[in-house]
Amino acid sequence: MKQTLPDLEPYERRLERPTNLKLPDLQHGPRPKHILFAQQFDRPFLDRLGRTADQIRVLSQTKATAVELRDLLPHKRAMLYFTQQSTRTFLSFMASCQLLGMSVAEIRDPSLSSEYKGESPLDSMRMFSSYSDLIVIRDKLPQFAEACAYLMNDLDDFNQRSVPIVNGGSGADEHPTQALLDIFTIQRTFGIGAAEDHAGVSRFAELQSRHPDLQSGLDGKTYVFSGDIGRGRTVRSLCVLLANFDNIHIRFVSPAHSKLRLQADLRDWLKSRHIDISEHSSLDEVIEEADIVYSTRIQSEHDRSESDVASAEDLRACHVTPERVQRMKEYGAVLHPFPRNEEIPAAVDNDPRAMYFRQARNGIWIRAAAIAHLFDVDTSIREIYDSHLLDWRRYNQDVL
Ligand code: NCD
Repeated sequence: MKQTLPDLEPYERRLERPTNLKLPDLQHGPRPKHILFAQQFDRPFLDRLGRTADQIRVLSQTKATAVELRDLLPHKRAMLYFTQQSTRTFLSFMASCQLLGMSVAEIRDPSLSSEYKGESPLDSMRMFSSYSDLIVIRDKLPQFAEACAYLMNDLDDFNQRSVPIVNGGSGADEHPTQALLDIFTIQRTFGIGAAEDHAGVSRFAELQSRHPDLQSGLDGKTYVFSGDIGRGRTVRSLCVLLANFDNIHIRFVSPAHSKLRLQADLRDWLKSRHIDISEHSSLDEVIEEADIVYSTRIQSEHDRSESDVASAEDLRACHVTPERVQRMKEYGAVLHPFPRNEEIPAAVDNDPRAMYFRQARNGIWIRAAAIAHLFDVDTSIREIYDSHLLDWRRYNQDVL
């Protein structure tokens, strides 16, 4: 329970702007200063981030290179302020900080902090910025992380200590780092970044020879979202990132219920980007054309009475059953941000298209990559990778 609601009034004028006008406040030139919105990321950045994540993934797997990674940011500390429930986002942020040598502190229950004595959460944040070099925030209040970023910008203007803010999920509106890990998972599904993964390379070469469509990466693909489209913040953030790619098709499958179906603001935004979208009430209508199926749970914690209005039959029409997965393309993938309920039965888990557990693991690499870009050590990661890659290649040539 949060004791004091933050007073966001001093930031109101900035909070009310359309997102595109906010973006300059969140950048240091080409480098992100804070991570708040999926709209901050363009295609070249997504490509760079995916490459860094892949390099971190490979480097973290051997002792000598893992030690070099940990030598990058041992002088930095992160604060994970997670007052909204979380398992994967919390643990993967913690693991990603540790991969880069950062130490981590956490607040998960504000009733154990001075907020219980009436301290304003914004004062708490300023206090955390004295003790840490990065604050990751997951909060129910939609614009709290954003207001904290403006607080940090103001401190910076007055030459006071200021640290980057990362949004680990805010209200029902945004979950940008989940969208980054989703894009990274899709990149890997389509064979992008498998360069040094020999098993991966031969699997993709074979798949690409049978499915020439795979060669175009994320462009030209059909992305199917199913479940709670209206209230899933991961759906919103991922749609925004997908809009960076060419000639894509998005299909939304949900019960025809006012809270669960695609909301007008996202529909209008996607249309303004000339993206081909359509709405459906059953996965059966679109399963064969899907390259990616992104399933989500029904988020009944928001307003229990409303979501009960969708009938069990309407909900089942959105479920990812083994029979439906059988009808998907051979190289397709089923994603889910987790936690899952009954929308994907465990019987699907061993299908090669069930990508959701690997997707969750990808959160470690992509979050570490995002932190590396915030702290300007992505080039050092590439250098470590290149030098070891040369060693590995020489070794392979010698033994072959
Ligand atoms: C999602 C979230 O919190 O929005 N989970 C996550 O962070 N991986 C999805 C959900 O709660 O259903």
